[in-house]
Amino acid sequence: MTISYETVKVALNNNSYDILIGDGLTAQCTNIIRDKSRDGKFLLITDENVARYVLPKFQNHMEKNNIRLEIFTLPVGEKAKNWINLEHICEWLIAKGVERNDHIIALGGGVVGDITGFAAHIIKRGCNFIQIPTTLLAQVDSSVGGKTAINSKSGKNLVGAFHQPSLVLIDPMVLDSLPPREIAAGFAEIVKYGLIQDKSFFNWCNAEVENFFVGDSATRIHAIKTSVTAKASIVAADEQERSGVRALLNLGHTFGHALEAEAGFGDTLLHGEGVAVGMVLAFRYSETQGLCPPHQAKKIAALLSKAKLPTRIADCPISCDGETLVGHMMHDKKMSAGKLPFLLARAIGQAFLANDIDIDNIRQFLDDTIASEKHS
Ligand code: GLY
Repeated sequence: MTISYETVKVALNNNSYDILIGDGLTAQCTNIIRDKSRDGKFLLITDENVARYVLPKFQNHMEKNNIRLEIFTLPVGEKAKNWINLEHICEWLIAKGVERNDHIIALGGGVVGDITGFAAHIIKRGCNFIQIPTTLLAQVDSSVGGKTAINSKSGKNLVGAFHQPSLVLIDPMVLDSLPPREIAAGFAEIVKYGLIQDKSFFNWCNAEVENFFVGDSATRIHAIKTSVTAKASIVAADEQERSGVRALLNLGHTFGHALEAEAGFGDTLLHGEGVAVGMVLAFRYSETQGLCPPHQAKKIAALLSKAKLPTRIADCPISCDGETLVGHMMHDKKMSAGKLPFLLARAIGQAFLANDIDIDNIRQFLDDTIASEKHS
């Protein structure tokens, strides 16, 4: 049986690759995978949840077509992205006799993709790597672009490298086994692409949000394809986040990471939820500074609320002031020469990087926001 899928190219100088998007791909991809390597081994890293819900179909399909998989299973959750598991993965790969022309497959969400990609980068000084993302957030963001990392005691993603995959396989049907809250968290990153540079996509998200959440296949594929196309072009323009173009992808993330850090980087505030509130804050701050016309933040919050995402600091499981949140921002890895770059906006679809933001001003804005939310 041939399967239909859409293809988006990530065009890079040395290591271009395709992102394939199609319903049912995980159970119909042997030819695609085999084309990547006729004689190398396939070593797969996953986590306990994905091993239960997605792996069996994938493994069955591969084995029926005579592709043998070696499998390593991680515990579930952000805490698994640590030095100890990195060591376990690397020792396991070495014990399995990994060679540089073998393929290391990440089957899972952002945690699995990030740690697997980093292991692929350092093992034997770099092995091939395939991403099969199984969460919406990983499908539209973290599986594309080659950012890989583990967490350090001092913060998230502080130890890592750029290591591009050789292929990204996206099967929207695997989303059917995800809790609705995880889908909503991924939807925040989809909306982000509209806010950065594509107002018509933001309007499309507004029109299609209900269809998206009932799992309409064409709507899901369009949302994912538009998102990865936007990400691919940004990554192609600035692969290693040096010129400021790729930094646009961090819209909402400086505020969002501070909220996540205060909430303890756990399940009480998912990354996409922090980003949702962070994007509203970035637009509200832009409005207060006269950079952006009024009511944009309100429109964004209205869309995110339809997706049942938090939109206010008061919606987050934290209780703190501006000083505390700014304190978290100071540990951000984007901090340079004592200044923190912020993503602000001139309008929906017109985000820009501001390098000259006064942190006292941000602290005051956060205190004012927290106070006004108490009275609304
Ligand atoms: N998630 C932001 C980036 O890939 O640059």
